[in-house]
Amino acid sequence: MKPVYYEDGLLKLIDQTKLPTEFIVYSYSDYREIARAIVDMIVRGAPAIGVTAAYGVYFGAREYADQPKEVFFSKMKEVTSCLAATRPTAVNLFWAIKRMEDVIEKNKDKDIKAIVKLLEKEAQDICAEDIQMCRDMGQHGAALIHYGDTILTHCNAGSLATADYGTALGVIRAAHDAGKNISVYADETRPFLQGARLTAYELQADGIPVTLITDNMAGWMMKQGKIDGVIVGADRITSNGDVANKIGTYSVSVLAKAHGIPMYVAAPTSTIDFSMKSGDEIVIEERNCREISHICGIQVAPDGVAMENPAFDVTPHQNVTAIITEKGVVYPPYDINIPKLCEKQ
Ligand code: MRU
Repeated sequence: MKPVYYEDGLLKLIDQTKLPTEFIVYSYSDYREIARAIVDMIVRGAPAIGVTAAYGVYFGAREYADQPKEVFFSKMKEVTSCLAATRPTAVNLFWAIKRMEDVIEKNKDKDIKAIVKLLEKEAQDICAEDIQMCRDMGQHGAALIHYGDTILTHCNAGSLATADYGTALGVIRAAHDAGKNISVYADETRPFLQGARLTAYELQADGIPVTLITDNMAGWMMKQGKIDGVIVGADRITSNGDVANKIGTYSVSVLAKAHGIPMYVAAPTSTIDFSMKSGDEIVIEERNCREISHICGIQVAPDGVAMENPAFDVTPHQNVTAIITEKGVVYPPYDINIPKLCEKQ
């Protein structure tokens, strides 16, 4: 299931706010509308928003292709700033925009039509590489899963969060395809319900046994010995191995540690932010509190009540058993082993 793809010169996005009850695909060619789709979470998930933003840069370039060169370059700064201002936490967004900016910078002496063509190719490459990275991650991660394991996952780090296949769910898919007879508990993931609406939907569609639970049930399932391992995705991993991911991941990591259950994080190396030493530096997105006061449009909290809605939290590296990347699995000490892994070709 591809949540973002390029077809007939248009960007196509599955509206993830409507799943699983409605399957709607929108077409885009305006970078401002693409930025809006990221803010509104029509498309979400760290790698998927990176791919979407890369196409956004390309569409911006296409729009200004007939302008004089100086105007084109200054308009491209507006385009990249607009896309970068959408969501602050997932580093993949900024990583993908930087790749597109590098193409402009390296080819600034070429004519604009040639630059636009190269930007189209770069966005397509980012998309294709993401799928390959997920598949490679799946192979590395599946080796950590035992026959008959039951895995807990939080949020949606599946096909719908990437260009296809998924990170955490990519590992689960690979283990399932290897005949490991696994099953999955999916946390519903309040407030946006990515677990209930997207993870349960994806796994069910693939015939992977999945049981949906509310977030506050995870600890009790662990206590009863029903969970053998946790696998989640990541929005940003700092050089010391701290992991920003969907709000609630931190709680799951504490519970896993208390019960002696391995906690794995699956993420491409593009999610690693070497510019940050620890998770304390990560900007956590605050979203509209209507996501808390309302569930699927129905009010569930009294008018005027105080609310907070941080969309992500940070799991300290001490709670992470291993990080699964497309280059292999990395274990603590992360500040030493992550750079070593990233040097690998
Ligand atoms: O707010 P979202 O739905 O974009 O958050 C998504 C997550 O937190 C995912 O777990 C993360 O991006 C990894 S996706 C492969």
